Amino acid sequence: MIRLSITCATLLICSAQLAFAHGDTVPQAVDTSGLPDLGEAMASENPWRTAEGDLLFSAVKIGAKGFNSNCARCHGLEAIAGGLAPDLRYLEASEWGDEWYLSRVLTGYEQNGAVKMPPFADILSPEAIWAIRTYIETRPDQEEMTARQPELSAAHAKVEALAAGGDATAIAAELDALGDSFAVLSGAARSVTALHQAAHILRADPARAPAAAELIAATLRN
Ligand code: HEC
Repeated sequence: MIRLSITCATLLICSAQLAFAHGDTVPQAVDTSGLPDLGEAMASENPWRTAEGDLLFSAVKIGAKGFNSNCARCHGLEAIAGGLAPDLRYLEASEWGDEWYLSRVLTGYEQNGAVKMPPFADILSPEAIWAIRTYIETRPDQEEMTARQPELSAAHAKVEALAAGGDATAIAAELDALGDSFAVLSGAARSVTALHQAAHILRADPARAPAAAELIAATLRN
């Protein structure tokens, strides 16, 4: 009995790690606390396309979680498709793109009786659906992020140096400007990069410079 439960525990840990590596395989409801209530009726266009500040960053953060736990296993971690399903970063950030997005997300897709994509109408709230949309359409081009590592390293060093003092507001403005120079693949007005997220943290609380630096560092390890 004891041996059996140890084996099960080991198996559970292994399968949890596997699920993490590839994104979760079971659809997950998404905790959207922190986002405004959108009501029951589904909008036809992303209500957060022009969001700014806290709202924008909460939507992207919650959308990233929702995406990685529900969509990544087919559409690729961080929305970088591995070939199993379309690369969603290219889906146009427009009302037309939203209609197509919604129809697929709500009803899924079946081909010759086989479910190629499950429907999410009963799993995801409107808030979760639009947070995921906001995350997807603001993804920067990962190839450009990789090609421009020296600039990211320099930005990281500046944020790290803030621990010894300095003008956090000026650095935040620099991070935003650098972030804005990264292309977005959806045609959205802007990308949301770790640089923007770090700038947002610095503006809210300069004492959190280490957390801001850590966010930029994560893009360097990719
Ligand atoms: C089991 C695999 C699977 C999962 C999980 C999945 N999808 Fe899909 N998805 C697909 C496949 C396959 C297609 C291509 C269907 C087709 O030919 O139109 C697709 C198509 C789409 C499209 C249309 C893209 C285009 O360019 O035409 C959107 C939008 C989409 N999925 C969004 C999502 C979102 C958002 C999630 C998570 C909430 C998700 N999918 C989860 C497999 C999946």
